[in-house]
Amino acid sequence: MASRRGLFSTAGILFFIAPFLWTRESSGSISFASYYNDHMVLQKAPKSNIIWGYATTVGSTVSVTLSGKPPVTTRVVEGPMAGKATWKVQLSPESDPGPFEISVESNDGNAKIVDVLFGDVWLCSGQSNMQFTLPQVLNAGQEMVDSYNYPDIRVFTVDLKTSDQEEYDLLSVLEHWSVPSNATVGYEPWQYFSAVCWLYGKYLYQHLKYPIGLISSTWGGTPIEAWSSKDVIAKCGGDGIHDEVGKIPDHDLREINVDVSTNQLWNAMIHPLLNLTIYGAIWYQGEANAGEPDKYKCYFPAMIDDWRSKFHDGTMSQTDPQFPFGFVQLAPWRNDPTITTGFPDLRWAQTADVGYVPNAQMPNVFMAVAIDLPDFDSPYGGIHPRDKQDVAERLVLSSLPIAYNVSAGKYQGPFPTAFYIDTGYDTLEIEYDKSSSVLDVRSMDGFEVCCSKNNQSQCNPVDSKWNSVPIVKHDEYTVTLSYKNQCPNMYIVGLRYAWRESPCDFKNCAVYSMENSLPAPPYILIGLIG
Ligand SMILES: *[C@@H]1O[C@H](CO)[C@@H](O)[C@H](O)[C@H]1NC(C)=O
Ligand SMILES: *[C@@H]1O[C@H](CO)[C@@H](O)[C@H](O)[C@H]1NC(C)=O
Ligand SMILES: *[C@@H]1O[C@H](CO)[C@@H](O)[C@H](O)[C@H]1NC(C)=O
Ligand SMILES: *[C@@H]1O[C@H](CO)[C@@H](O)[C@H](O)[C@H]1NC(C)=O
Repeated sequence: MASRRGLFSTAGILFFIAPFLWTRESSGSISFASYYNDHMVLQKAPKSNIIWGYATTVGSTVSVTLSGKPPVTTRVVEGPMAGKATWKVQLSPESDPGPFEISVESNDGNAKIVDVLFGDVWLCSGQSNMQFTLPQVLNAGQEMVDSYNYPDIRVFTVDLKTSDQEEYDLLSVLEHWSVPSNATVGYEPWQYFSAVCWLYGKYLYQHLKYPIGLISSTWGGTPIEAWSSKDVIAKCGGDGIHDEVGKIPDHDLREINVDVSTNQLWNAMIHPLLNLTIYGAIWYQGEANAGEPDKYKCYFPAMIDDWRSKFHDGTMSQTDPQFPFGFVQLAPWRNDPTITTGFPDLRWAQTADVGYVPNAQMPNVFMAVAIDLPDFDSPYGGIHPRDKQDVAERLVLSSLPIAYNVSAGKYQGPFPTAFYIDTGYDTLEIEYDKSSSVLDVRSMDGFEVCCSKNNQSQCNPVDSKWNSVPIVKHDEYTVTLSYKNQCPNMYIVGLRYAWRESPCDFKNCAVYSMENSLPAPPYILIGLIG
């Protein structure tokens, strides 16, 4: 730099402006990767972060400084993108929330980002119900005004892009890291910022009280295959061809009509983020896979594990290989009580057919049940309920114990543990987990038994039928159903609960926990009960 400056030293006036010119000209040749910007949040200690970017001169020394700390140096190398020289450093773990500046310097020039905070970074992904933005929710105006109270939450939105190959940097950014304001969390519908992601971050912040970074990477109408790597598809034995999208009318699901196929969003919208240390992820997706529960119950746990191990690898082991992963179980859609397939089966598959999480196949996974939050009059279609506050609140309630080991009371709705049949009175008593909260029974409907002419372990429409059975009695931990006159001289070969696309009126399904008002998740049991 000194010798360059010398070039101008004979021309008096230029001498004075040269350092300024030089800074401007040279700063283009060293830069940060797309998602390192002013106002960002990096993952706090004990984890550390990778910072990387581009430069021109392979082999030259790059020095990266977090304000007030000793610089970290590295050399410019070729790769991982063909024809592009990059640099990469790992910062020391940082527990001070900041704000900090990060500057990078080499013979190629210098660059810096400012107002960088350290806290927890969460990735939010899925289809339209995660893409659904804050200006679209109920009480949107109030939410946007309130956003100014959370300057330590920062938001970033990945642009909607597809790719046939794994990308190492984002092809484009829809919203660079931003401080919350009407303009940044309340921009245009379907643009930014994701309502579930924002509200999740806001409620989490109310407990944690330190910076939260939220990255939204979503696309309406997209199937899980699009968000999955080749490894997931190989593991689940599929060809990865998603051929069922037509089962649900496109206009109800897709805000943007583009055919997105297998791997393409993994390639363009997740893979580039793998070098960012994240604390965890939340997910709201599955509508586009309704009708494919068997496929989903393999894909979903496999995709979670694959994301976990790849973020771990991409961040030099800094991201937890078992990072917490939360999801929203599908909400209701149409106001039609006769629909018993599609969403109900997919909701069950979202738990790998266990009914609740975490479970052995889905460790460190948490869920918000949303079956009782219909919004048939939503101007965005009933498939996009506007009440995202309850969804986010339930997510946080389950995130605190799973992701943070902080107890906030009950985080799962009641789940059945035993059944007692009384053939004298034709009643079936369901006992719920006694270590759980006492029950809050709000309606008598929602249970069905499968009556069969034959003693078998299936509910086969040829000789069997689902019949609604009312709750006739309930106490702290049990509900009793009466099947009188429903199954004369027949076997009971199945029991199910809330097995409807839209099972009940708003917050009025049958069974809740008294503590924290959590709905019992949908349930199905096939096998001889009595
Ligand atoms: C905030 O944004 C909403 C929706 O975009 C708009 O209606 C409102 O006027 C804005 N308010 C302010 C204070 O800018
Ligand atoms: C980011 O992570 C990916 C995936 O692990 C890795 O291939 C790539 O080299 C990393 N990028 C940089 C700049 O180190
Ligand atoms: C979770 O918290 C409990 C009680 O505070 C503590 O005993 C336990 O060691 C913690 N577990 C982990 C994994 O941090
Ligand atoms: C139903 O069949 C099983 C064997 O398949 C048998 O053990 C059981 O006793 C039968 N139950 C009734 C009520 O007939």
